[in-house]
Amino acid sequence: MIEIDRISRAFGGLQAVRDVSFTVAPGSITGLIGPNGAGKTTLFNIIAGAIPPDSGHIRLQGEDITGLPTHKLFHKGLVRTFQIPHEFSRMTVRENLMLVPARQAGENLLKSWLRWGKVIEQDHEILKRADEVLDFLEIGHLRDELAGNLSGGQKKLLDLGRTMMTDAKAVLLDEPGAGVNRTLLGKLAEAIERLNKERGYTFCVIEHDMDLIARLCDPVMVMANGELIASGDMATLRENPEVREAYLGTGASGKAGAA
Ligand SMILES: Nc1ncnc2c1ncn2[C@@H]1O[C@H](COP(=O)(O)OP(=O)(O)OP(=O)(O)O)[C@@H](O)[C@H]1O
Ligand SMILES: [Mg+2]
Repeated sequence: MIEIDRISRAFGGLQAVRDVSFTVAPGSITGLIGPNGAGKTTLFNIIAGAIPPDSGHIRLQGEDITGLPTHKLFHKGLVRTFQIPHEFSRMTVRENLMLVPARQAGENLLKSWLRWGKVIEQDHEILKRADEVLDFLEIGHLRDELAGNLSGGQKKLLDLGRTMMTDAKAVLLDEPGAGVNRTLLGKLAEAIERLNKERGYTFCVIEHDMDLIARLCDPVMVMANGELIASGDMATLRENPEVREAYLGTGASGKAGAA
């Protein structure tokens, strides 16, 4: 589905991503883990067209998409969420969802705002879809709440909901579980699983919550210092000395059990 082929990217003297290659297989929920600063988000930014790589290629279903802008990728079925949620805080939850199709179609913010009145009046289809998404995520009761008033976890669910407003097939999630409480985390995991099983979404998920990764992801890719250092299922990776070393700075036991 997504083929990451020898991607490198430096910022000044810092090699944020170094010669990374792996494939996100169609239908998989592929994990991407690694300590802070490993280069995970940078790799997502490259896949999603936010920044170009210095070298290497990204292919989506065999087609070279290296450096394509976000809206072009959207049309090809590739979308992403951000490590820090990007909601419009003064708009309601439902309006946030309804804005997605217009914005992703490549319209700039001003243009989509100008179109906004029209969207509300005419686009019952979009409204219906937004309500379906809210029901699917079991946050229908929040539809008229201002997005800015949501908890961190609810914002993460809203972010996932935004990907569902598209006909996305490949979805990149950057730390969907960050700041999400246990109850909501279960809901989020269930939503990701259902989207994968019932709607055929392929996911690549960056996450620090290893229990969430273990529940959702197979295989899991491990990055450290810009490099891909290991891959496999989570149970095997937990025992991998290099992975433990990357998380702890030592091969010794301890917190690595959680890694
Ligand atoms: N735009 C940028 N300019 C300069 N350096 C950057 C930029 N973006 C990222 N970096 C650096 O690249 C390295 C990798 O950062 P990145 O955000 O990809 O890590 P990460 O694995 O997502 O970490 P975290 O788990 O903390 O989110 C870090 O040292 C970071 O400071
Ligand atoms: Mg990151």
